[in-house]
Amino acid sequence: MIDFHSHILPGIDDGSKDVAETLALLNLLKDQGVRTVVATPHFYADDERVERFLERRAQAKALLTDKIPAGMNIVCGAEVAYYPGISRLPNLSALCIENSKLLLLEMPMSKWTDYTVKELIELSGRGDITVVIAHIERYMGYQSHDTLRLLRANGILLQCNASFFLKLTTKGKALSMLKKGEIHFIGSDCHNLTHRAPHIGQAFEWIEKKCGKLFLEELLNFGKAKLH
Ligand SMILES: [Fe+2]
Repeated sequence: MIDFHSHILPGIDDGSKDVAETLALLNLLKDQGVRTVVATPHFYADDERVERFLERRAQAKALLTDKIPAGMNIVCGAEVAYYPGISRLPNLSALCIENSKLLLLEMPMSKWTDYTVKELIELSGRGDITVVIAHIERYMGYQSHDTLRLLRANGILLQCNASFFLKLTTKGKALSMLKKGEIHFIGSDCHNLTHRAPHIGQAFEWIEKKCGKLFLEELLNFGKAKLH
C-alpha cells in the first residue's frame, strides 16, 4: 500500500523532528500495511528556492540511509503551497513526486478565484505536470460543485487524508466520493507520533469492508501506476 502524503522526513518541516521519530513513524506505517511512503515536506516559494528545498530534502533523506525498515520504500515529493502565479515558478516540475508528473498542491482555505481555477487547469494541461490537490476535504466546503466538476473534468486528481474516512461526521461523504471515483489518492498526512500520527491502515480496512477487496485493489493499483 502507498501513503501518498506524509511529513516523515526528519527535521525538514513541521513533521518528524528527528531520525528516531521518522523510524517510529515508518514502523507504524509498516504495521498498517504501507510499503511505499511518499514524503511530502511543505514547500513555500516565499521562503526558499526550489533548488535549496531539493537539497534540504536530499539531506534529510540521506540521514535515513541504511535505517529504513526492511520492505519499506520512501519516494520523495513535496506539498507545494499554491499562490496565484505559481505556474511561472522556475523548475516547478522538479517538485513533482519522484518518477511521476504528480504535483501535490496545498490550496487556500477560501473560495478559489476564477484565476486560480484557470491556473490549475492550465497547469494540468501543459504536459509536464498532473495537479493533485492535497486533502481536498479541507477545501470542498468553499467551492461550488461546478468548480470541483470542472477541475476533475480537466484531469486534476484529488488526494484525501485517512482521517476523512475515519471521522464519524465525514466518513459517509468520503465513501460516497470514493465510489464515484472522485478520490484518487489517500495519505496519512502524518506529522508526528502524538496528535498527527498515521492511521491510514484503518482507513484502508474500512474501505475494504465497505467497497470490497477488488475495489481497494483497483484504487491502490491506480496510485501505483501513477508512480512509475
Ligand atoms: Fe500535509
